[in-house]
Amino acid sequence: MEEKRVNPPAGSSARMAGVATRAGHPGAGGDLPSREAAWQLVCEWVQSDSLRKHLLAVEAAMRRMAERAGGDPDRWGLAGLVHDLDWERYPTREDHPYRGVEALRQAGFPEDIVHAVLAHADYTGTARESDMDRALYAVDELTGLITAAALVRPDHSLRTLEVKSVVKKMKEKRFAAGVDRQTIEVGAQELGLTVPELTAEALAAMQGIADQLGLAGEPGQPAEKTVTSS
Ligand SMILES: [Fe+2]
Repeated sequence: MEEKRVNPPAGSSARMAGVATRAGHPGAGGDLPSREAAWQLVCEWVQSDSLRKHLLAVEAAMRRMAERAGGDPDRWGLAGLVHDLDWERYPTREDHPYRGVEALRQAGFPEDIVHAVLAHADYTGTARESDMDRALYAVDELTGLITAAALVRPDHSLRTLEVKSVVKKMKEKRFAAGVDRQTIEVGAQELGLTVPELTAEALAAMQGIADQLGLAGEPGQPAEKTVTSS
């Protein structure tokens, strides 16, 4: 976990930056900020390389889950990309994810994404109402487990990691003990998937961006500490 606290929220510098209007998504919460603007906001708030990679992993998993569920990959991906925006600065239940939500609203993120961010943490009491909410909850911890499972492989590669290995690691309580298994199980159940089915989707998504995650198996690739959060 990141304990470091850095500068206070910069607030307005990224406000509305690059907010693009798109064709409306009736009932889906309005227009989306551009992916570029979202990444700019992430880079403003998050300095930790491992936390940025966690956000990229969840983004990729969310895009894939959207494709599977008939959702909007851009919208679901943004929810994944920003869900832990405030974790580095405010890693407590008093602040996370509420500080991030404030920044997201200021930056013009629609309320369905804000809702998904709130609902990804059980303790907020925000119900998971949409498929996007449920997907974010389901893949958040799972991507951490998959990262940890890749890092203990000799080649540190996602590309040679198999679903069955991840599921086996999930059953080993001492492995990546900070990863909440119950969240993964409940999340899969809420999506109507088995844990291996959910794992297959998340793993495939992460394999698609293995280079960005530093888990493509290049020689000399340094191990990164896994970041997970609520
Ligand atoms: Fe997370």
